Amino acid sequence: MKQNLIEIAYLVSAIMFIYGLKRLQSPATARKGNQLAALGMLVAVVATLFLHQILTPIQMITGVVIGSGIGALLAKRVEMTGMPELVAAFNGFGGIASALVAGAEIAKILAEVSSGGLAEPLDGVDAVTISLSILIGMVTFTGSFVAFGKLSERISGNPMSFPGMRFLTLLFVAAAIGAIAWMTMNMDAIGGTGLVLTPMVEAGIVIAIAGALLGILLVIPIGGADMPVVVALLNSYSGMAAAATGFVLDNTALIVSGALVGASGLILTNIMCEAMNRSLFNVLVGGFGGDAGSGSGPSASSEGLTVNSTSADDVAILLSYANKVIFVPGYGMAVAQAQHAVRELAEELAKKDVEVKFAVHPVAGRMPGHMNVLLAEANVPYDQLFEMDEINAEFETTDVAVVIGANDVVNPAARHDKASPIYGMPILNVDQASTAIVLKRSMRPGYAGVDNELFYKPNTQMLFGDAKESIVKVTNEVKAL
Ligand code: TAP
Repeated sequence: MKQNLIEIAYLVSAIMFIYGLKRLQSPATARKGNQLAALGMLVAVVATLFLHQILTPIQMITGVVIGSGIGALLAKRVEMTGMPELVAAFNGFGGIASALVAGAEIAKILAEVSSGGLAEPLDGVDAVTISLSILIGMVTFTGSFVAFGKLSERISGNPMSFPGMRFLTLLFVAAAIGAIAWMTMNMDAIGGTGLVLTPMVEAGIVIAIAGALLGILLVIPIGGADMPVVVALLNSYSGMAAAATGFVLDNTALIVSGALVGASGLILTNIMCEAMNRSLFNVLVGGFGGDAGSGSGPSASSEGLTVNSTSADDVAILLSYANKVIFVPGYGMAVAQAQHAVRELAEELAKKDVEVKFAVHPVAGRMPGHMNVLLAEANVPYDQLFEMDEINAEFETTDVAVVIGANDVVNPAARHDKASPIYGMPILNVDQASTAIVLKRSMRPGYAGVDNELFYKPNTQMLFGDAKESIVKVTNEVKAL
C-alpha cells in the first residue's frame, strides 16, 4: 500500500516535470512551467520523506522554509550576468549529492554484511549503477566548481594546459574503467561467507578520485567565455548522475527527473553549439572563446576603412520618423543593464506610431535565453520578441535596426568569410536594413575576437558610449521632438 502511494506520487511528479518542461517553450508560460516542475519535485520529496517515515511533518516544513529562504535570497542577490555561475554551482551540488548517495549505499551494504548478511543479493548491475553514480557525480562536482571559479573570475578564465595533460586524462579514464570492472567482477563475492568487501570500497575510492581529477582536467583547458556551453553539458551530466543514483536507490522519480535533465542538457548543448556553428569537440578542446574580449581594436583587414559615428540627437530624429524599427540586443545590453531603458524607448516610439520589434539571436549574450530573460524582466511585451528565423526576412523592409551591444551575432563575415572563426554561424540580417545604428563603447571586438565589417558599411552609424547612457539620451531627445 505504502509503496503504491509512493509510486503514484512519483507518477504525478513525473507528469508535472514533463508538463512544466513543455511550458518552458514560451516566455509567456515559462514562469508557470518552472513553478509546476518545482511543485512536482516537492511532491516527490515529501512523498519519499513522509511515507518512508524519514522525517516528521514539522522537520519537513522546517526544511522547506530554510531551503526556500536560501533560494529566495540567492535569486534576489544574483545578477543576471552571474546566472551561469549560479547554475554551475547548482550542478556541482547535484553531482556531489549523487556521489554521496552512492557512497552511502556502499556504507549500507558494509553495515548489512557485517551484521549477518545482505537484505538482497547484489549483482553486476548494482556495481555499474553505484560506480557510474560516483564517477559522473564527481566529474560533475569538480568540473562545475572549476567552471564556477572561471565564470566568477575567482580563477583565471584563460584556457589552462600543461604537458602530458591528455595522457593524464586518458590515465584517469582507464583507472575509472578498470575500477568499475573490478567492482563488477567481484560483486558476486560480496556478502558471501568470506565478506569480500575490499573490492567495492577500494574501487569506489579509485572511481571517486579519478572522477574528481577528470572533472578538473576536462574543464581547465576551456576558455572562460566557452563556459556556458560547458555548464549546459555539466547540467546534463548532473542529470545522468541523478538517474544513475535513481537506479542505485530504485527510485523512479529520480530516474525520470535525472533522465529529463540529462536529455534536455544535451539538447541545449547541441542547440548552443549549432547556433555558434561549432562542434562540441571544438568547444571542449578550446577554440575561439579562449581569449574573448582581448582584442584591442580593428584588425588589419579594416585598416584604412572609416566608420560613421553619430549622436543621440540624430538617432532620435531617425527613429522618430521611421515606420519600422527593429532592436537587436546583445551581450553589451546585459553588461550595461540597458533593458529597461530600451523598453522605455520602444514605448516612446510606439506612441509616435513607429512599428517596433525585437530580434533575438539564439546565442546573443552569454547564456541560453539571456536576451529573452532580460527583455521579459523589463516587461517588453512577448509579442514584440521574434526569434532569428521569424524576423530575418523583415530587415529588408526595416528603416532602422538598432544594435544594442551586439557584435558577433550581426557580423556579415559569418556569411562569406571562410577564414573567420564565426563563418557559417547564422546571423541577424541587420546590414539589410536601410540604416543600422550600432551602440557600443569602442571598436573592440566581441566574444569571437574578430572585427565586424558591419561597422564600416556606408549605411551603418556608430553611437559610441555605454548602451544604457546612450539609450537614455536618445529617449529624452525622442520625447522632446
Ligand atoms: P558579443 O559579440 O560578445 O559583443 C558584445 C559587444 O557588447 C562588444 O562588442 C562590446 O563592445 C559591447 N559592450 C560591452 N559592454 C557594453 C556596454 N556597457 N555598452 C555598450 N556596449 C557594450 O555579443 P553578441 O553579439 O551578443 O554575441 C554573443 C557571442 O557570445 C557569440 O559569439 C556567441 O557565440 C557567444 N556565446 C554565446 C553564448 C550564449 S548561449 N548566448 C554562450 C557562449 C558564447 P565594446 O567593448 O566596444 O563596448
